[in-house]
Amino acid sequence: MIRSTLLQRAQQDFEKAFGSADAPPRIAVAPGRINLIGEHTDYNDGFVLPMAIDRHIAVAFAPRTDRIVRAHAAEPGETRELSLDSLEQRTDGEAGKWGKRGGWFGYLAGVAWAMLGAGHALRGADLAIVSNLAVAAGLSSSAALEISVARALAAVSDLSWDPFSFAVLAQRAEHEFAGVECGIMDQLSVAVGREGCALLIDCRSLEARDVPVPENARLVVFDSGIRRDLASSAYNDRRAACARVVAAARSRHSWVRALRDVDDTLLTELSPYLDPVDVRRAAHVVAENQRPAGLADAFRACDLAKAGRLMMHSHASLRDLYEVSLPELDTLVELAVAEPGCVGARLTGAGFGGCVIALVEAGSVERVMSSVEAGYEERTGRSTMAFMCGPAGGASLL
Ligand code: GLA
Repeated sequence: MIRSTLLQRAQQDFEKAFGSADAPPRIAVAPGRINLIGEHTDYNDGFVLPMAIDRHIAVAFAPRTDRIVRAHAAEPGETRELSLDSLEQRTDGEAGKWGKRGGWFGYLAGVAWAMLGAGHALRGADLAIVSNLAVAAGLSSSAALEISVARALAAVSDLSWDPFSFAVLAQRAEHEFAGVECGIMDQLSVAVGREGCALLIDCRSLEARDVPVPENARLVVFDSGIRRDLASSAYNDRRAACARVVAAARSRHSWVRALRDVDDTLLTELSPYLDPVDVRRAAHVVAENQRPAGLADAFRACDLAKAGRLMMHSHASLRDLYEVSLPELDTLVELAVAEPGCVGARLTGAGFGGCVIALVEAGSVERVMSSVEAGYEERTGRSTMAFMCGPAGGASLL
């Protein structure tokens, strides 16, 4: 469900920033996402099981008669503009010109640039952007921004909306303008999510299958309060480690294209020729790649205990093999699963900060939330912002 207060805020901000027009602005919205399982597998051509959530970015928009895109963002309270003509002439990202890497306007410029590069004839627009999604918390606020802006620009330019191809363009924007070599999971889940469902995505074929979330399952997000900056984090290093293992595998077996094609036996065969750290990274990916299908089966069978176990295995692997957890995230996981009714928990997203998700039986949510909040403060001196999220639909136009 999209909260009506968010939509009202988008409309009010639009009028404050750009004045009231004859017709009220239209609104494009895109959700955030949590990833239930399948972490750091997307850029290895593997499987993921994300779920779009009922927290959104909303963009109130109206067309302009020129080729200028003017945008106001409530957070950080800034209005900026760009010319589509000058953007079109650029051959690469040059993020610096649009603000610091990863800045909100860089994402917006990146999306417009990628759409122009794909041959879409864009028209100018005024955009007012509001959000009830935490920024840089691992809930894909950047993908939600990219996809909601793409939806708005596509609407003013009379382009038909294909969520898959616009997700790929948004990923391109992230690579070129934000400097993050991210996979396709975030943009795809935000663009094509289905209400009531998680999505089992094959990141090689981009096939996405709906996986209904069991009725008695609740998903609770615990924000560690530690913000990570993906662009400056070790994300790209992890990706490079995977690429080294693929190169070693391919030099012996030419059919290997990605870690998705590597299994335990092959990894053991390659190990003597690889850095032991790279072997650990690959071992995580090889095992993690099996888990999305396992959790999807568990959800279909309404077997929450099995789903929870898989989440625990995933977290341990991210902590010990991929080394992207933090003591604070481990603490949140420990506190959550110590509570009856919480069947599993794990970090979600890239790691290095951000959020933990917990799978909780309906009826136990309040107690799990309050115990974890109290325990986290006691053990780390930090407070966690906990909220329950439901499975939402993907980007839409209102
Ligand atoms: C970030 C990236 C995704 C994915 C996750 C880790 O969210 O944007 O593409 O790689 O990290 O699973």
